[in-house]
Amino acid sequence: MAVQQPTAIKSLRALRGAENACTRCPLYKNATQAVPGIGATQARIMLVGEQPGDQEDIQGKPFVGPAGRVLDEALEAAGLSRGDCFITNAVKHFKFEQRGKRRLHKRPGAYEIDRCHIWLDSEIALVTPALIVAMGATAVRSVCGKPMTIGKIRGHAIALPDNRRMLATVHPSYILRIRDQDDRHAQFRKFVTDLKAGIRFLKKPA
Ligand code: URA
Repeated sequence: MAVQQPTAIKSLRALRGAENACTRCPLYKNATQAVPGIGATQARIMLVGEQPGDQEDIQGKPFVGPAGRVLDEALEAAGLSRGDCFITNAVKHFKFEQRGKRRLHKRPGAYEIDRCHIWLDSEIALVTPALIVAMGATAVRSVCGKPMTIGKIRGHAIALPDNRRMLATVHPSYILRIRDQDDRHAQFRKFVTDLKAGIRFLKKPA
């Protein structure tokens, strides 16, 4: 991925405006609006998802749909609240396919992830989190700048070349999609374990 510097934008408010005016890839054309990150300005933990879904696109806020409910439950089980975190996505516009009245989620491709990376980088530069939790392959690719296998790095805070720390885990939608209840509960517990590992990392002396 071509290296991009974060923007020189100095506040999250101004950054939100710039994200909303973004035309760096075609996704803005069909989305209702950009969905910038929200949360504590100086949060020590930043949670990064894939892209807004249908509800997020309408409301303009990340993780307010079904995946957001799984995330809220997991945060609570781990002893965190949304107020402790800055929550955002790798891609700021909803990518979907219209089927009748339904808008079906489409996974963003490498081009969209890379074009949108400048906004995530700018959010990181302003919030300066001690730990970035990358949820799912899209977030991992954006945070690391290259694809990585989640199974190999999951649940550990790893140092990135730019000195940032990233902990990779699954995306809450992955848990939602599991049909078997026992399996779903087991994967939910693993997700919570990953979040708890992140909290332990934050509590360690620097
Ligand atoms: N999935 C994401 O990755 N982000 C959201 O904001 C909602 C669902």
